[in-house]
Amino acid sequence: MSLSIGVIGTGYVGLVSGVCFAEQGNTVWCMDVDTEKVTHLRQGKSTIYEPGLEPMLQRNVHEGRLHFTDDLRMAVRNATVIFLCLPTPPDEDGSADVRYVLQTAEDIAAIVREENLGGRRIIVTRSTVPVGTSDKVREIFRRVAPDADLRVASNPEFMSEGNAVQETLAPDRVVIGSSDPEVVAVLRELYRPFVNDYDRPLIVMDEKSAEVTKYASNAFLALRISFMNELSRYCEAVGADVEFVRLGMSFDPRIGRRYLHPGIGFGGSCLPKDIRALSRSAQEAGAPLRLVEWTDRINREQLERFVNRIRERFGGSIAGRRFAVWGLAFKPNSDDVREAPSLKVIAALLGDGATICAYDPEAIETARRVVGERIEYARDMYHALVGADALIIATEWGEFRSPDWQRMKTALRGHVIFDGRNLWNPDELAARGFEYYAIGRRSYAP
Ligand SMILES: NC(=O)c1ccc[n+]([C@@H]2O[C@H](COP(=O)([O-])OP(=O)(O)OC[C@H]3O[C@@H](n4cnc5c(N)ncnc54)[C@H](O)[C@@H]3O)[C@@H](O)[C@H]2O)c1
Repeated sequence: MSLSIGVIGTGYVGLVSGVCFAEQGNTVWCMDVDTEKVTHLRQGKSTIYEPGLEPMLQRNVHEGRLHFTDDLRMAVRNATVIFLCLPTPPDEDGSADVRYVLQTAEDIAAIVREENLGGRRIIVTRSTVPVGTSDKVREIFRRVAPDADLRVASNPEFMSEGNAVQETLAPDRVVIGSSDPEVVAVLRELYRPFVNDYDRPLIVMDEKSAEVTKYASNAFLALRISFMNELSRYCEAVGADVEFVRLGMSFDPRIGRRYLHPGIGFGGSCLPKDIRALSRSAQEAGAPLRLVEWTDRINREQLERFVNRIRERFGGSIAGRRFAVWGLAFKPNSDDVREAPSLKVIAALLGDGATICAYDPEAIETARRVVGERIEYARDMYHALVGADALIIATEWGEFRSPDWQRMKTALRGHVIFDGRNLWNPDELAARGFEYYAIGRRSYAP
């Protein structure tokens, strides 16, 4: 059954969700306060880089199933299921700021009341929100539009940037938090094309458990990375190679392969903010999550250690040095630079008086909006190396893995590489004449 869907907030989550709901035959109204974004999207131009997204966006706009608007009323009038995909940025104390979600719930209720809109509407929180937010939304509906039939559900988003379209169309699981059988029935129908009974289940639970499931999942992924990063320090100290250790661990099906890569730490718009929000919520609840607190701490230290290694290599002072940085996005196949480790490394090096020329296949424009002209941006990966004292690998894009070594040696003055993503084999790099510093592995220093 085709449904009429509203998506409020058309960023990474909202746009991908909206496009994928339309792709399955639903009529979707995507709303955003950013009018420039809405104009672009109406023309079929994607505002984010996600593999496979733009053609699907264009097709669904063309076929009249996907609409973009900056008018919340339009979405509320037309949709019976409304997804809130709004930002939940960190507050000063690390907790999640749910202001946008709650204000929008209030606005939706006011529109329904003022326009006397009849019929049932299900408001689904897809943003990552602290436990208890669904209760707050329900309270707002009772207060602002007591006579309206406004229902609430939690439906956390688990997709990861870079694979968002694929993971939304075929998710590992869909979690629905609701104790209302009518709401569950509608959402089951909506998700029917996305899930199956064998390996992609739809899991129904109460709202609070759904809200916690999202934070717990992200915290666990982050914990795996921090575990490996801390282990990398131990491997360096005892002369083991963390990449062998990782391989040896990862073929154990009880452990699995993903989120085990040591590096310069995790970034992005979700993991860092979500683990801090979870830590904060757990402290407030009197049930601190100490492993989660340490996950954050280890992540910060990992980046500091990397920067310190660069400083030490140049005798403690990098003022006047020039660095090439490969990779700006917080992960490959994305143009997202929010909380990207690359930008933290760049900020530290700039603060020490170094100059930087960076290259990224997709994230130069998003990085430019944050860093501005304080660094140079290269047209290709080799151009970034010209005259640099050292190369820093900050993101593991596929195209960096098999470079033209001769071109690298010609352009890179210093023949020094700080590999924050363990792209290459240290022995091979040494044989090619590079001074090579990796994470948790043998380094080849002069
Ligand atoms: N990005 C991810 O990979 C990811 C994955 C899972 C969950 N989440 C969660 O989903 C939520 C959204 O994340 P995102 O990455 O899509 O954020 P985003 O910043 O990319 O998108 C949010 C959008 O909301 C719009 N917006 C802000 N205020 C608005 C308002 N009042 N009305 C309408 N639109 C408004 C913004 O203009 C923006 O386009 C967050 O809670 C995040 O933690 C994100």
